[in-house]
Amino acid sequence: MKEYKTLIVTCALPYANANLHLGHILEHIQADIWVRFQKMQGNKCYFICADDTHGTPIMLKAQELNITPEELTTQIYKSHVEDIKAFDISFDHYYTTNSPESKELVYDIYNKLKTNNKIATRNIHQLYDEEKQMFLPDRYIKGTCPKCKAEEQYGDNCEVCGTFYSPTDLIDYYSVISGTKPVIKKSEHYFFKLSECGDFLDNWLNRNNRLQQEAINKMHEWLSSGLQDWDISRDKPYFGFLIPGTTDKYFYVWLDAPIGYMGSLLNFCKQNNLDFQQLWNDPQTEIYHFFGKDVLYFHALFWPAVLKYSGYNTPTSLFAHGFLTLNGQKMSKSRKTFINAKHLIESKIPTNLFRYYIGSKLTSKVEDIDFSLDDFVFKVNSELVGKFVNIAARSSSFMDKLFNNKTATTIKDTSLLNRISSQESEIAEHYTNREYARALRLIMSLVDEVNIYVDNIKPWALAKDPQQLELLHEVCSILINAFRLITIYLKPVTPQLALDIEKYLNIKELQWSDVHSLLLDHNINKYTHLITRIDTKMTENLMNLAQNEVTLQTTATEATSNEITPSSQYEPIADIIDYDDFSKLDLRIAKIVNAQYVEGADKLLQLTLDIGCETRNVFAGIKSAYDPATLVGKHTVMVANLAPRKMKFGLSQGMVLAASFDDKNSGVYILEPHDGAKPGMRVK
Ligand code: MSP
Ligand code: ZN
Repeated sequence: MKEYKTLIVTCALPYANANLHLGHILEHIQADIWVRFQKMQGNKCYFICADDTHGTPIMLKAQELNITPEELTTQIYKSHVEDIKAFDISFDHYYTTNSPESKELVYDIYNKLKTNNKIATRNIHQLYDEEKQMFLPDRYIKGTCPKCKAEEQYGDNCEVCGTFYSPTDLIDYYSVISGTKPVIKKSEHYFFKLSECGDFLDNWLNRNNRLQQEAINKMHEWLSSGLQDWDISRDKPYFGFLIPGTTDKYFYVWLDAPIGYMGSLLNFCKQNNLDFQQLWNDPQTEIYHFFGKDVLYFHALFWPAVLKYSGYNTPTSLFAHGFLTLNGQKMSKSRKTFINAKHLIESKIPTNLFRYYIGSKLTSKVEDIDFSLDDFVFKVNSELVGKFVNIAARSSSFMDKLFNNKTATTIKDTSLLNRISSQESEIAEHYTNREYARALRLIMSLVDEVNIYVDNIKPWALAKDPQQLELLHEVCSILINAFRLITIYLKPVTPQLALDIEKYLNIKELQWSDVHSLLLDHNINKYTHLITRIDTKMTENLMNLAQNEVTLQTTATEATSNEITPSSQYEPIADIIDYDDFSKLDLRIAKIVNAQYVEGADKLLQLTLDIGCETRNVFAGIKSAYDPATLVGKHTVMVANLAPRKMKFGLSQGMVLAASFDDKNSGVYILEPHDGAKPGMRVK
């Protein structure tokens, strides 16, 4: 007899000061696929989330909009709930941290930490904005990096050289809110004694599968560099819970946010007559948190320690994921490539197709996931529409015209169907391990097998021969059953599509165990359209919606980032290619025989390149970086087989290679080979 598990699963709580974007949705999809799979298996699973409503950015944004923080967070809550629904994210409960339940638990936990002697108070000196009359969080202070002298760096770390420092180390620091120079002021703060939790955390982390390898490595780094006590208080003005016994001090948002997981669950328990304490603390209950790599520090260090020393069960495992990038680049508000959930919904791209695409890229590793628009269109059209739904389409007209939409009473040759159901445990294992990319590859290989079967057996030819009608009925019944079995496998990823298919097949909600049964002598419905092919117009529309987004962002609200590892200028490494892909590039050593300015062009230089066998004319966007005279006579590398491009100034017959960071602020550098390389030599 199979034993069913009880699981509590959470996603990180989105901040309640902005709409959800596709990065949030990536996380929700990752967790939702897992939860749906667990539920299909029969496990009891509480899937919990909430809005994270407290902290300085939310307080300031409300001020800017001239509304109360409660009004702001109520508006945003509605918007979040809409988006979550549109993406079929099946939270059992989506609540808010600004709730009586969260408050009750924050006080309960704080009191227990105090009883266990894990709270200390200490005076600290902090920068204070006299004009705004508030202490400034590090992210609200900017100045010049003391190490690399990069300007406009935040008060906690330098995004250019990665140095961590305190805000007063910055040169010429100023308040981002008022622009004035802040003064140093003393204040009493409350600390959680994290410095005493090293041994506990060391042990905690060494349990099997507690964390992914990348996260374990990070933890070792943090633990070995020594843990500092954690400042859990903020002075007024602040939007949050007041610290008991004070009138001007609040709990720091990151103390109450994870407790918000519990607060949301407690509210759910109250509504459903469940015992929260019993549920959370039952040793059989498994607790899992999904979140992004930027908030690992909070989930892996503070959270288990806070739970441990307040007598609560600690998480069973933590699942950190990487970031969503767009066409290989960080989504950027300033470049207007920041896609909100609403943009995708409004673009009319079916959200299940996005779920499928994200699923097909997700692994258990902490790696970034790229949303490449062209790849997206190609992948969902060819795999979901062209191959999968095609299985139903290929049998539907025969089923309708010849067999009254009823499947055969028996299937003699079950080999194909057995083959599909035999993959159940492997697919289940991939889902369990959050290796969705693998699961979907395996599922699609089964889809391919079904299509090959159709190609070989040629139902359209059978239909012409009255003697073969019985066989044709069997073939169509095999296809309908294959379609049903594969739908079971895809259901965690594309729940809406699965629901439509269940309607078409006239069956009740598919469970994982249904993979061991067949639909025989069963009436299905007349086939109707199940899925829409997407086209590049839709993705263009999506980008236009993102471009036209009116942002209410100010410098202050931009400062919501909680990245502990500094975000870097490094673009993520592109998808792996094989050698064949690489060898398509014909790179040649070229001698720059002439270089000159181009009349009317802001960015271009015109280069004449000798590549041994030919001379090429190439326009290169390097005007800002090079004086043409200095280039003549030098060797460089060019792409010699790039399709020629007609430009306003003439034909460009290739491209020279140049290195730069994404923002080009640190310069553009063309490549130069070592001495001895001759024009025309191939680079490989
Ligand atoms: N409020 C905190 C979390 C508190 S949890 C107790 C927070 N909020 S957030 O809105 O900034 O981010 C919510 C989640 O979305 C985090 O797990 C974060 O890592 C994730 N992501 C934010 N941007 C992302 C991408 N571009 N890509 C993938 N996930 C991203 O942090
Ligand atoms: Zn620096």
